[in-house]
Amino acid sequence: MSMHYGDRHYELIKELKAALLDERKTAVFYAQMRDLSTSFAGVDSFAEARKDELDHATALTRLLERLTGTIPEEALQPVCPTEISSYCEGIKMAIQGESAARVEYKRILQKTQSREIQDIIREIFNDEEVHLAKFRILYDIECKPGYYAESGD
Ligand SMILES: [Fe+2]
Ligand SMILES: [Fe+2]
Repeated sequence: MSMHYGDRHYELIKELKAALLDERKTAVFYAQMRDLSTSFAGVDSFAEARKDELDHATALTRLLERLTGTIPEEALQPVCPTEISSYCEGIKMAIQGESAARVEYKRILQKTQSREIQDIIREIFNDEEVHLAKFRILYDIECKPGYYAESGD
């Protein structure tokens, strides 16, 4: 029984570490996208999401520190910028990344019975939902010619 718990606990730690690294990579990527943005909507969406991802990275680092007793390597290791072929391609990648993050956090939620951990993860999950919705709208505004005309403004 205790072995089983140990395996599950180890799996949870592993997933949390992967999520932490993803958050940090995403924050760097969104800084790149913010700098590429030429509209207020673009700058605003990516700047705000970047701030959230940094908050998520901090929350996950604190959680992992409490669970393992040490600062995880994933909190400190350098992360590379993302290769972005075009602004709209970048928004598409952001949408895919947010969808993947939702799946990732849903899986983590299923791996723990701890209310405390679930609350932390659920809060992050909710932010990713907001990011996903914002980037989908941003894609329509920035990357679909005639979007405004079609929506009858
Ligand atoms: Fe995040
Ligand atoms: Fe996000």
